[in-house]
Amino acid sequence: MEPIPLNVNGNTIRIAVDGDTPLLDVLRNHLGLTGAKFGCGLEQCGCCMVLVDGEPVKSCGKPLSAVAGRAIVTIEGLGTPERPHPLQQAFLDEQAGQCGYCLPGILVSAKALLDHNPAPSRREIAEALDDNICRCGSHVRILRAVERAARLMREGAAR
Ligand code: FES
Ligand code: FES
Repeated sequence: MEPIPLNVNGNTIRIAVDGDTPLLDVLRNHLGLTGAKFGCGLEQCGCCMVLVDGEPVKSCGKPLSAVAGRAIVTIEGLGTPERPHPLQQAFLDEQAGQCGYCLPGILVSAKALLDHNPAPSRREIAEALDDNICRCGSHVRILRAVERAARLMREGAAR
């Protein structure tokens, strides 16, 4: 089996896995990156979301061969406990989540939004997160957290 080249969170690797294997399976079971979650497995809930070339992608339905050589970012690539991404800090500040299962997908979707649009309206945030389901109903706090993160990032950019 020909190894498939991957770029995950800035690290270039080659992995000998069948090209039809879902990206989520490779991230979680081969690379130990368990941030992205398995929910529906049917590209319906968004908890498996990762970024591929900066765009949110549901990794449960994306075959590995389709992302060969492309830049993949998972929640593990956003920040660290010592240096959290502004989105992670804002979600903590707003206590935006209950069980947290949806949050890795929501955070990467929100990152894609803020990378394209540093000052989104609440409607634009809601539309960007439309593919991410939160079963705990934390939507209002999640929207507030993304607004807070946008402010933090704009202030940081101004400093
Ligand atoms: S697990 Fe991928 S969309 Fe639900
Ligand atoms: S916080 Fe539980 S699913 Fe969103």
